[in-house]
Amino acid sequence: MVGLQGCGKSRWVREHLAPTHAVVSKDHWPNARRREARQQRVVDELLAAGRDVVVDNTNPALEDRAPLIALARRHGAAVRAVHLDVPLELCLQRNAGRKGRARVPVVGVLATRNRLVAPSTEEGFDRVDVVRPPEQVRPA
Ligand SMILES: Nc1ncnc2c1ncn2[C@@H]1O[C@H](COP(=O)(O)OP(=O)(O)OP(=O)(O)O)[C@@H](O)[C@H]1O
Ligand SMILES: [Mg+2]
Repeated sequence: MVGLQGCGKSRWVREHLAPTHAVVSKDHWPNARRREARQQRVVDELLAAGRDVVVDNTNPALEDRAPLIALARRHGAAVRAVHLDVPLELCLQRNAGRKGRARVPVVGVLATRNRLVAPSTEEGFDRVDVVRPPEQVRPA
């Protein structure tokens, strides 16, 4: 998954991938040290066990995604990016509607926006899908 905080990744994953994929996210261990290394270890183990895996993080930059792409390649797994391309304003609005720890600081969303590079097949994905909210669809 690729997309800003509040864009709707976790909801999309629940609706589209959770039935068939093991869902891994650093959010599952908010207080752990070395969450990145831990996440890679968990993905590695799941792929080794033959599972399909979705990584539900913001994954904004090439350097965030490269280790996951490499991991998939090592296991001979096809690797797909699902980019939730949701306007910043809508992400902030959705984030503001969340409760407790799920609501993240606005500066965090802005920092991710500044780092975000749209995923492409050139960095190694076999497939890239872009999901845009229906409220952005314009009549022809
Ligand atoms: N398609 C949608 N339409 C309306 N509201 C949505 C939609 N998708 C998600 N939301 C709402 O927006 C909020 C953020 O969604 P979600 O938690 O899935 O975002 P996220 O991308 O996983 O964020 P984070 O990176 O912080 O985990 C939630 O309250 C969710 O219910
Ligand atoms: Mg989420």
